[in-house]
Amino acid sequence: MVEIAVMGHGVVGSGVVEVIVGNRENITNHAKEDINVKYILDLRDFPDTLYANKFIKDFNIILNDPDVRIVVETMGGIHPAYEYVKACLQAGKSVVTSNKELVAAKGAELLAIAKEKNVNFLFEASVGGGIPILRPISQCLAANEVYDIAGILNGTTNYILTKMIHEHTPFDKALETAQKKGFAERNPEADIEGHDACRKICILASLSFGEHIYPENVHTEGISKITSEDVDYAASGDYSIKLIGRARRHNDSKVEAWVAPALVPSTCQLSTVDGVFNGIIVWGNVIGEVMFYGKGAGKLPTASAVVADVIDCVKHLKSRKYLFWRDGSTSDIKDYSESKTAMYVRVCGKNAKDAVKNVYGEVKPLHRENQPDDELAFVTDIFTIKDHEHKMEELKTQGARVLGSLRVF
Ligand code: HSE
Repeated sequence: MVEIAVMGHGVVGSGVVEVIVGNRENITNHAKEDINVKYILDLRDFPDTLYANKFIKDFNIILNDPDVRIVVETMGGIHPAYEYVKACLQAGKSVVTSNKELVAAKGAELLAIAKEKNVNFLFEASVGGGIPILRPISQCLAANEVYDIAGILNGTTNYILTKMIHEHTPFDKALETAQKKGFAERNPEADIEGHDACRKICILASLSFGEHIYPENVHTEGISKITSEDVDYAASGDYSIKLIGRARRHNDSKVEAWVAPALVPSTCQLSTVDGVFNGIIVWGNVIGEVMFYGKGAGKLPTASAVVADVIDCVKHLKSRKYLFWRDGSTSDIKDYSESKTAMYVRVCGKNAKDAVKNVYGEVKPLHRENQPDDELAFVTDIFTIKDHEHKMEELKTQGARVLGSLRVF
Protein backbone atom coordinates (compact mmCIF):
# COMPACT_ATOMS: atom_id res chain seq x y z
CA MET A 1 0.00 0.00 0.00
CA VAL A 2 1.35 3.44 -0.94
CA GLU A 3 -0.06 6.40 0.97
CA ILE A 4 -0.56 9.67 -0.87
CA ALA A 5 -1.89 13.14 -0.03
CA VAL A 6 -3.82 15.50 -2.30
CA MET A 7 -3.40 19.24 -1.71
CA GLY A 8 -6.40 21.19 -3.05
CA HIS A 9 -9.93 19.86 -3.49
CA GLY A 10 -11.06 22.03 -6.38
CA VAL A 11 -12.10 20.77 -9.80
CA VAL A 12 -8.89 18.83 -10.52
CA GLY A 13 -8.14 17.69 -6.95
CA SER A 14 -11.62 16.27 -6.42
CA GLY A 15 -11.33 14.55 -9.81
CA VAL A 16 -8.04 12.95 -8.75
CA VAL A 17 -9.58 11.49 -5.58
CA GLU A 18 -12.64 10.29 -7.52
CA VAL A 19 -10.47 8.56 -10.13
CA ILE A 20 -8.19 6.91 -7.55
CA VAL A 21 -11.17 5.58 -5.59
CA GLY A 22 -13.42 4.79 -8.58
CA ASN A 23 -10.77 3.16 -10.78
CA ARG A 24 -9.00 1.41 -7.92
CA GLU A 25 -8.70 -2.05 -9.49
CA ASN A 26 -7.34 -0.80 -12.79
CA ILE A 27 -4.92 1.57 -11.04
CA THR A 28 -3.66 -1.17 -8.72
CA ASN A 29 -3.09 -3.43 -11.72
CA HIS A 30 -0.95 -0.76 -13.36
CA ALA A 31 0.88 0.42 -10.24
CA LYS A 32 1.31 -3.12 -8.81
CA GLU A 33 0.48 -1.56 -5.43
CA ASP A 34 -2.68 -0.32 -3.75
CA ILE A 35 -2.81 3.48 -3.58
CA ASN A 36 -4.58 5.10 -0.64
CA VAL A 37 -5.43 8.78 -0.29
CA LYS A 38 -4.54 9.40 3.34
CA TYR A 39 -5.07 13.17 3.49
CA ILE A 40 -6.82 15.85 1.47
CA LEU A 41 -5.60 19.36 2.28
CA ASP A 42 -8.05 22.22 1.80
CA LEU A 43 -9.00 25.31 3.77
CA ARG A 44 -12.67 24.64 3.06
CA ASP A 45 -14.88 22.01 4.69
CA PHE A 46 -16.49 19.27 2.63
CA PRO A 47 -18.75 17.53 5.20
CA ASP A 48 -20.93 15.87 2.54
CA THR A 49 -18.22 14.05 0.58
CA LEU A 50 -17.47 10.35 0.97
CA TYR A 51 -13.98 11.28 2.16
CA ALA A 52 -14.93 13.83 4.86
CA ASN A 53 -12.64 12.10 7.41
CA LYS A 54 -9.55 12.63 5.22
CA PHE A 55 -9.70 16.44 5.15
CA ILE A 56 -7.04 18.41 6.98
CA LYS A 57 -6.16 22.10 7.06
CA ASP A 58 -2.57 21.89 8.30
CA PHE A 59 0.08 21.20 5.65
CA ASN A 60 2.59 20.10 8.29
CA ILE A 61 0.58 16.92 8.92
CA ILE A 62 1.44 15.82 5.37
CA LEU A 63 5.02 17.06 5.53
CA ASN A 64 5.75 15.28 8.81
CA ASP A 65 4.04 11.97 7.99
CA PRO A 66 6.76 9.57 6.74
CA ASP A 67 4.07 7.20 5.41
CA VAL A 68 3.10 9.76 2.77
CA ARG A 69 5.48 9.05 -0.11
CA ILE A 70 3.69 10.94 -2.89
CA VAL A 71 1.97 14.33 -2.73
CA VAL A 72 -0.39 15.64 -5.41
CA GLU A 73 -0.59 19.43 -5.73
CA THR A 74 -3.76 20.73 -7.42
CA MET A 75 -4.11 24.01 -5.52
CA GLY A 76 -3.10 26.25 -8.41
CA GLY A 77 -1.25 29.59 -8.20
CA ILE A 78 2.32 30.02 -7.04
CA HIS A 79 1.89 30.68 -3.31
CA PRO A 80 1.70 28.65 -1.17
CA ALA A 81 1.92 25.83 -3.74
CA TYR A 82 5.62 26.58 -4.34
CA GLU A 83 6.56 26.52 -0.64
CA TYR A 84 4.57 23.31 -0.06
CA VAL A 85 5.94 21.48 -3.11
CA LYS A 86 9.50 22.53 -2.31
CA ALA A 87 9.17 21.35 1.30
CA CYS A 88 7.73 17.99 0.19
CA LEU A 89 10.56 17.40 -2.31
CA GLN A 90 13.16 18.42 0.26
CA ALA A 91 11.57 15.94 2.68
CA GLY A 92 12.10 13.17 0.11
CA LYS A 93 8.50 12.88 -1.10
CA SER A 94 7.67 12.68 -4.80
CA VAL A 95 5.33 15.38 -6.08
CA VAL A 96 2.79 15.37 -8.92
CA THR A 97 1.23 18.66 -9.97
CA SER A 98 -1.18 20.00 -12.57
CA ASN A 99 -0.10 23.57 -11.79
CA LYS A 100 1.34 25.13 -14.96
CA GLU A 101 1.88 28.50 -13.31
CA LEU A 102 4.12 26.85 -10.72
CA VAL A 103 6.05 24.71 -13.21
CA ALA A 104 6.54 27.60 -15.68
CA ALA A 105 7.85 29.86 -12.90
CA LYS A 106 9.80 27.42 -10.70
CA GLY A 107 10.29 24.23 -12.73
CA ALA A 108 14.11 24.33 -12.97
CA GLU A 109 14.52 24.90 -9.22
CA LEU A 110 12.02 22.18 -8.23
CA LEU A 111 13.48 19.67 -10.71
CA ALA A 112 16.94 20.32 -9.26
CA ILE A 113 15.68 19.57 -5.74
CA ALA A 114 13.94 16.41 -6.98
CA LYS A 115 17.22 15.32 -8.60
CA GLU A 116 19.23 16.01 -5.44
CA LYS A 117 16.75 14.07 -3.29
CA ASN A 118 16.33 11.27 -5.85
CA VAL A 119 12.55 11.66 -5.96
CA ASN A 120 10.15 12.41 -8.78
CA PHE A 121 8.55 15.72 -9.74
CA LEU A 122 6.02 15.03 -12.50
CA PHE A 123 3.53 17.41 -14.15
CA GLU A 124 2.01 15.80 -17.26
CA ALA A 125 -1.35 17.49 -16.56
CA SER A 126 0.15 20.98 -16.63
CA VAL A 127 0.14 21.06 -20.45
CA GLY A 128 -2.72 19.84 -22.61
CA GLY A 129 -4.81 18.52 -19.67
CA GLY A 130 -5.54 14.90 -20.53
CA ILE A 131 -3.39 14.83 -23.70
CA PRO A 132 -0.17 12.85 -23.22
CA ILE A 133 2.49 15.31 -24.35
CA LEU A 134 5.34 15.71 -21.81
CA ARG A 135 5.98 11.99 -21.44
CA PRO A 136 5.90 11.45 -25.25
CA ILE A 137 8.40 14.30 -25.71
CA SER A 138 10.75 13.14 -22.94
CA GLN A 139 10.45 9.38 -23.59
CA CYS A 140 8.86 8.35 -26.89
CA LEU A 141 10.65 11.06 -28.89
CA ALA A 142 13.91 10.68 -26.95
CA ALA A 143 15.79 9.66 -30.12
CA ASN A 144 15.00 13.04 -31.64
CA GLU A 145 16.31 16.51 -31.36
CA VAL A 146 13.00 18.33 -30.97
CA TYR A 147 13.49 21.70 -32.65
CA ASP A 148 10.01 23.17 -33.00
CA ILE A 149 6.69 22.99 -31.14
CA ALA A 150 3.50 24.83 -31.98
CA GLY A 151 0.07 24.42 -30.57
CA ILE A 152 -3.35 25.53 -29.56
CA LEU A 153 -2.76 25.29 -25.83
CA ASN A 154 -5.79 27.02 -24.33
CA GLY A 155 -9.27 25.55 -24.59
CA THR A 156 -11.11 28.67 -23.42
CA THR A 157 -9.77 30.94 -26.15
CA ASN A 158 -10.15 28.21 -28.75
CA TYR A 159 -13.82 27.85 -27.78
CA ILE A 160 -14.32 31.63 -28.13
CA LEU A 161 -12.52 31.81 -31.49
CA THR A 162 -14.45 28.79 -32.77
CA LYS A 163 -17.75 30.53 -31.93
CA MET A 164 -16.53 33.68 -33.69
CA ILE A 165 -15.49 31.68 -36.78
CA HIS A 166 -18.36 29.21 -37.16
CA GLU A 167 -21.28 31.11 -35.62
CA HIS A 168 -20.23 34.71 -36.33
CA THR A 169 -20.57 35.50 -32.62
CA PRO A 170 -18.80 38.73 -31.60
CA PHE A 171 -15.93 38.35 -29.11
CA ASP A 172 -17.82 39.74 -26.05
CA LYS A 173 -20.81 37.48 -26.62
CA ALA A 174 -18.61 34.41 -27.21
CA LEU A 175 -16.74 35.14 -23.95
CA GLU A 176 -20.06 35.48 -22.11
CA THR A 177 -21.20 32.08 -23.43
CA ALA A 178 -17.85 30.51 -22.45
CA GLN A 179 -18.32 31.87 -18.93
CA LYS A 180 -21.91 30.59 -18.73
CA LYS A 181 -20.77 27.12 -19.81
CA GLY A 182 -17.97 27.14 -17.22
CA PHE A 183 -15.17 27.14 -19.84
CA ALA A 184 -14.02 30.64 -18.92
CA GLU A 185 -13.47 31.95 -15.42
CA ARG A 186 -15.25 35.03 -14.06
CA ASN A 187 -11.90 36.81 -14.35
CA PRO A 188 -10.83 35.47 -17.76
CA GLU A 189 -7.62 37.49 -18.11
CA ALA A 190 -5.12 34.61 -17.82
CA ASP A 191 -6.81 32.79 -20.69
CA ILE A 192 -7.88 35.72 -22.86
CA GLU A 193 -4.58 37.60 -22.65
CA GLY A 194 -2.54 34.51 -23.47
CA HIS A 195 -0.81 34.01 -20.08
CA ASP A 196 -2.08 30.44 -19.65
CA ALA A 197 -0.87 29.47 -23.14
CA CYS A 198 2.44 31.21 -22.41
CA ARG A 199 3.03 29.10 -19.28
CA LYS A 200 2.34 25.95 -21.30
CA ILE A 201 4.66 26.83 -24.19
CA CYS A 202 7.35 27.67 -21.58
CA ILE A 203 7.02 24.17 -20.09
CA LEU A 204 7.11 22.52 -23.54
CA ALA A 205 10.11 24.60 -24.60
CA SER A 206 12.02 24.03 -21.36
CA LEU A 207 11.50 20.27 -21.61
CA SER A 208 12.34 20.09 -25.31
CA PHE A 209 15.36 22.39 -25.30
CA GLY A 210 16.75 21.61 -21.83
CA GLU A 211 16.87 25.15 -20.44
CA HIS A 212 14.17 26.93 -18.48
CA ILE A 213 12.28 29.44 -20.59
CA TYR A 214 10.55 31.91 -18.24
CA PRO A 215 7.12 33.37 -19.11
CA GLU A 216 8.26 36.96 -18.61
CA ASN A 217 10.75 36.51 -21.50
CA VAL A 218 8.14 35.27 -23.96
CA HIS A 219 6.25 37.71 -26.18
CA THR A 220 2.58 37.17 -25.31
CA GLU A 221 -0.54 38.54 -27.00
CA GLY A 222 -4.11 37.49 -26.33
CA ILE A 223 -7.28 37.42 -28.40
CA SER A 224 -9.24 40.35 -26.95
CA LYS A 225 -8.51 42.60 -29.95
CA ILE A 226 -9.72 40.10 -32.58
CA THR A 227 -12.85 41.33 -34.32
CA SER A 228 -15.54 39.60 -36.40
CA GLU A 229 -14.16 41.55 -39.36
CA ASP A 230 -10.72 39.96 -38.90
CA VAL A 231 -12.34 36.52 -38.73
CA ASP A 232 -14.28 37.16 -41.96
CA TYR A 233 -11.27 38.51 -43.86
CA ALA A 234 -9.24 35.50 -42.73
CA ALA A 235 -11.96 33.09 -43.89
CA SER A 236 -11.94 34.65 -47.39
CA GLY A 237 -8.29 33.63 -47.70
CA ASP A 238 -8.93 30.13 -46.29
CA TYR A 239 -7.44 30.88 -42.88
CA SER A 240 -8.77 30.35 -39.33
CA ILE A 241 -7.61 32.62 -36.52
CA LYS A 242 -6.18 30.57 -33.64
CA LEU A 243 -4.24 31.47 -30.50
CA ILE A 244 -0.90 29.80 -31.13
CA GLY A 245 1.99 29.17 -28.77
CA ARG A 246 5.25 28.43 -30.55
CA ALA A 247 8.81 27.65 -29.47
CA ARG A 248 11.49 27.00 -32.04
CA ARG A 249 15.23 26.48 -31.62
CA HIS A 250 17.28 28.21 -34.30
CA ASN A 251 20.67 27.15 -35.63
CA ASP A 252 22.41 29.63 -33.29
CA SER A 253 20.76 27.66 -30.40
CA LYS A 254 18.56 30.62 -29.46
CA VAL A 255 14.92 29.91 -28.81
CA GLU A 256 12.20 31.90 -30.53
CA ALA A 257 9.12 31.69 -28.32
CA TRP A 258 5.84 33.56 -28.56
CA VAL A 259 2.12 33.36 -27.96
CA ALA A 260 -0.08 35.27 -30.38
CA PRO A 261 -3.26 34.95 -32.41
CA ALA A 262 -2.36 33.89 -35.93
CA LEU A 263 -4.05 33.20 -39.26
CA VAL A 264 -3.66 29.44 -39.71
CA PRO A 265 -4.06 28.17 -43.30
CA SER A 266 -6.63 25.41 -43.83
CA THR A 267 -3.79 23.13 -45.00
CA CYS A 268 -2.41 23.07 -41.43
CA GLN A 269 -4.07 20.58 -39.07
CA LEU A 270 -4.18 23.14 -36.28
CA SER A 271 -6.83 25.01 -38.27
CA THR A 272 -9.26 22.13 -37.66
CA VAL A 273 -8.78 22.02 -33.87
CA ASP A 274 -12.06 23.50 -32.66
CA GLY A 275 -13.96 24.19 -29.46
CA VAL A 276 -12.30 23.42 -26.13
CA PHE A 277 -9.88 20.97 -27.75
CA ASN A 278 -6.11 21.50 -27.82
CA GLY A 279 -3.73 20.45 -30.60
CA ILE A 280 0.06 20.41 -30.44
CA ILE A 281 2.50 19.75 -33.29
CA VAL A 282 6.05 18.69 -32.42
CA TRP A 283 8.84 18.58 -34.99
CA GLY A 284 11.80 16.27 -34.38
CA ASN A 285 14.82 15.63 -36.59
CA VAL A 286 14.09 11.90 -36.81
CA ILE A 287 10.31 11.62 -36.71
CA GLY A 288 9.49 14.76 -38.69
CA GLU A 289 6.08 16.09 -37.64
CA VAL A 290 3.83 14.51 -35.00
CA MET A 291 0.56 15.91 -33.72
CA PHE A 292 -1.18 15.50 -30.35
CA TYR A 293 -4.89 16.26 -30.02
CA GLY A 294 -7.47 15.98 -27.25
CA LYS A 295 -9.21 17.60 -24.31
CA GLY A 296 -6.86 20.17 -22.85
CA ALA A 297 -8.89 20.94 -19.74
CA GLY A 298 -11.66 19.68 -17.50
CA LYS A 299 -11.94 17.67 -14.30
CA LEU A 300 -11.57 14.10 -15.55
CA PRO A 301 -9.18 14.60 -18.51
CA THR A 302 -6.81 16.49 -16.19
CA ALA A 303 -7.27 13.97 -13.36
CA SER A 304 -6.46 11.22 -15.87
CA ALA A 305 -3.01 12.74 -16.45
CA VAL A 306 -2.39 13.44 -12.74
CA VAL A 307 -3.25 9.87 -11.69
CA ALA A 308 -1.03 8.45 -14.46
CA ASP A 309 1.85 10.45 -12.94
CA VAL A 310 0.97 9.11 -9.47
CA ILE A 311 1.12 5.56 -10.87
CA ASP A 312 4.50 6.36 -12.43
CA CYS A 313 5.75 7.63 -9.06
CA VAL A 314 4.53 4.46 -7.35
CA LYS A 315 6.40 2.37 -9.91
CA HIS A 316 9.54 4.45 -9.40
CA LEU A 317 9.59 4.98 -5.65
CA LYS A 318 13.23 4.07 -5.44
CA SER A 319 14.45 5.62 -8.68
CA ARG A 320 13.99 8.89 -10.47
CA LYS A 321 12.21 9.24 -13.79
CA TYR A 322 14.35 11.19 -16.22
CA LEU A 323 12.57 14.50 -16.57
CA PHE A 324 14.84 17.48 -16.21
CA TRP A 325 15.92 20.87 -17.47
CA ARG A 326 18.56 23.33 -16.34
CA ASP A 327 17.94 26.92 -15.34
CA GLY A 328 17.92 29.34 -18.26
CA SER A 329 18.51 33.02 -18.93
CA THR A 330 17.39 35.74 -21.32
CA SER A 331 20.51 35.15 -23.43
CA ASP A 332 18.91 31.83 -24.56
CA ILE A 333 15.95 33.70 -26.08
CA LYS A 334 15.76 35.29 -29.51
CA ASP A 335 14.52 38.86 -29.51
CA TYR A 336 10.90 38.88 -30.68
CA SER A 337 11.60 41.76 -33.08
CA GLU A 338 13.80 39.32 -35.07
CA SER A 339 10.98 36.77 -35.47
CA LYS A 340 10.10 36.32 -39.15
CA THR A 341 6.52 35.99 -40.35
CA ALA A 342 4.02 37.02 -42.99
CA MET A 343 1.43 39.39 -41.53
CA TYR A 344 -2.27 40.00 -42.03
CA VAL A 345 -2.83 43.77 -42.10
CA ARG A 346 -6.14 45.65 -42.13
CA VAL A 347 -6.15 49.35 -42.96
CA CYS A 348 -8.66 52.07 -43.80
CA GLY A 349 -8.70 55.68 -44.96
CA LYS A 350 -9.06 57.40 -48.29
CA ASN A 351 -5.32 57.12 -48.98
CA ALA A 352 -5.08 53.57 -47.62
CA LYS A 353 -4.88 51.75 -50.97
CA ASP A 354 -2.15 54.05 -52.31
CA ALA A 355 -0.26 53.83 -49.02
CA VAL A 356 -0.36 50.01 -49.13
CA LYS A 357 0.88 50.01 -52.74
CA ASN A 358 3.75 52.36 -51.85
CA VAL A 359 4.83 50.35 -48.82
CA TYR A 360 4.18 46.74 -49.92
CA GLY A 361 3.77 46.89 -53.72
CA GLU A 362 0.93 44.87 -55.23
CA VAL A 363 -0.99 42.85 -52.60
CA LYS A 364 -3.72 40.22 -52.94
CA PRO A 365 -6.73 41.64 -51.06
CA LEU A 366 -8.91 39.62 -48.67
CA HIS A 367 -12.66 40.27 -48.60
CA ARG A 368 -15.61 40.42 -46.24
CA GLU A 369 -19.32 41.16 -46.45
CA ASN A 370 -20.24 44.86 -46.11
CA GLN A 371 -16.63 45.87 -46.62
CA PRO A 372 -16.38 49.69 -46.74
CA ASP A 373 -14.81 51.15 -49.91
CA ASP A 374 -11.93 52.68 -47.98
CA GLU A 375 -10.97 49.46 -46.14
CA LEU A 376 -8.34 46.98 -47.29
CA ALA A 377 -7.06 43.76 -45.71
CA PHE A 378 -4.23 41.63 -47.09
CA VAL A 379 -1.40 39.25 -46.26
CA THR A 380 2.17 40.54 -46.63
CA ASP A 381 5.34 38.71 -47.62
CA ILE A 382 7.61 37.41 -44.86
CA PHE A 383 9.55 40.05 -42.91
CA THR A 384 10.91 40.38 -39.39
CA ILE A 385 8.56 41.84 -36.77
CA LYS A 386 10.88 44.86 -36.62
CA ASP A 387 10.44 45.46 -40.37
CA HIS A 388 6.67 44.99 -40.10
CA GLU A 389 6.58 47.66 -37.41
CA HIS A 390 8.52 50.07 -39.63
CA LYS A 391 6.20 49.37 -42.55
CA MET A 392 3.10 49.98 -40.44
CA GLU A 393 4.57 53.28 -39.23
CA GLU A 394 5.12 54.16 -42.89
CA LEU A 395 1.49 53.28 -43.67
CA LYS A 396 0.38 55.71 -40.97
CA THR A 397 2.71 58.42 -42.25
CA GLN A 398 1.11 58.02 -45.67
CA GLY A 399 -2.40 58.55 -44.24
CA ALA A 400 -3.65 54.97 -43.71
CA ARG A 401 -5.17 53.95 -40.39
CA VAL A 402 -4.02 50.47 -39.29
CA LEU A 403 -7.09 48.73 -37.84
CA GLY A 404 -5.37 45.46 -37.05
CA SER A 405 -2.44 43.18 -37.74
CA LEU A 406 -1.88 39.51 -36.94
CA ARG A 407 0.82 36.94 -37.61
CA VAL A 408 0.27 34.33 -40.30
CA PHE A 409 1.22 30.83 -39.19
N1 HSE B 1 -8.04 27.63 -18.72
C1 HSE B 1 -7.30 26.56 -19.28
C2 HSE B 1 -7.76 26.33 -20.73
C3 HSE B 1 -7.50 25.34 -18.43
O1 HSE B 1 -8.77 26.92 -21.13
O2 HSE B 1 -7.12 25.63 -21.49
C4 HSE B 1 -6.54 24.23 -18.69
O3 HSE B 1 -5.23 24.58 -18.47
